[in-house]
Amino acid sequence: MRISGKKYRTIWQCEDNPSVIKIIDQRLLPHEFCIIDLLNYKDSIDAISDMAVRGAPLIGGTAAWGMYLAALEMKEKNLKKIFLENAAKEISESRPTAVNLVWAINKVMEKVKGLEDNETIIKAIESEAKDICDEDVENCRKIGLHGLEIIKEIASQKRENEVNILTHCNAGWLATIDNGTATAPIYAARDAGIDVHIWVDETRPRNQGASLTSWELMHEEIPHTLIVDNAGGHLMQHGEIDLCIVGSDRTTRAGDVCNKIGTYLKALAAKDNDIPFYVALPDSTIDWSIRDGLKEIPIEERDELEVSEIRGISDGEVRSVKIINDETPCSNYAFDVTPRKYISGLITPRGVCKANEEEISKLYPEY
Ligand code: MRU
Repeated sequence: MRISGKKYRTIWQCEDNPSVIKIIDQRLLPHEFCIIDLLNYKDSIDAISDMAVRGAPLIGGTAAWGMYLAALEMKEKNLKKIFLENAAKEISESRPTAVNLVWAINKVMEKVKGLEDNETIIKAIESEAKDICDEDVENCRKIGLHGLEIIKEIASQKRENEVNILTHCNAGWLATIDNGTATAPIYAARDAGIDVHIWVDETRPRNQGASLTSWELMHEEIPHTLIVDNAGGHLMQHGEIDLCIVGSDRTTRAGDVCNKIGTYLKALAAKDNDIPFYVALPDSTIDWSIRDGLKEIPIEERDELEVSEIRGISDGEVRSVKIINDETPCSNYAFDVTPRKYISGLITPRGVCKANEEEISKLYPEY
């Protein structure tokens, strides 16, 4: 994506010093565009758990580069391979829900199986981290092309050309390495000359919709309107939404989708109003080891402060303000599961399929 005319990915290796990994600090957006350095694998853990980086595919990419930083440290301190194994375990535990994290770590560990020489291990992990990131960009591009067909079809049935799409959280460029999952079809539609307008859910408590998706769409010059999380149902009842596209943090092999808290309620409202509800995801987000999303997906619970306070900018300074009394306890479930029966289809890099085991495995027979 371009920011002020310059093309960026969300994570990259420093050109001048390949042992430094660069990320955009998403905690400061949209108020400040700040690039920070990851210098060791503990930095990658902090970046993931404190959400300087977030979004399932980007969490996977950061985990892979974190393993590269761990390998550098292993060499520098002349440590044994157990150091790398421990780092893998620690990074895997930095956030629980997005399966891309463990997926990326497993891919990296698979590559270093049987390798003993530190230099060879570093090279192998570096190349794997690059591949994971490049593949994600390509996957998002393909998701865009497949999702475009859905938008085209809806545009062709409308008297006026504009297609109104609702999205939740940020499943955009910032959640991936580039392009986004849910946003890729939107960008492809714009490029194909279709007028789109996006309803952006604010996505309390971290406000990824308000802070990140709106910012991305503004830079891409896509018409959009920010709404409070509870407005989607009302807009659907009044014919203001033609289509919902969201991302996923973990999808089961049977098609249940875990995504940002509130996704389920949007899917229910979409079903009640006969509005297509699609989930865009790369295969790295499919957890092939589980079927029942409600029973088997670990749901992250985050700090109460994210609920009791709200962050924003005032007098040029980013700060948090308290919005509740001192006594009320808060709970902060970060994700929910949308059962497959509410999902119209999955938009994957290999095509669009129904959210059920048979259809998913037709696209992915190797699993
Ligand atoms: O808590 P976050 O911001 O990491 O949650 C992100 C989401 O829920 C996204 O919708 C999901 O990761 C899909 S990203 C392409």
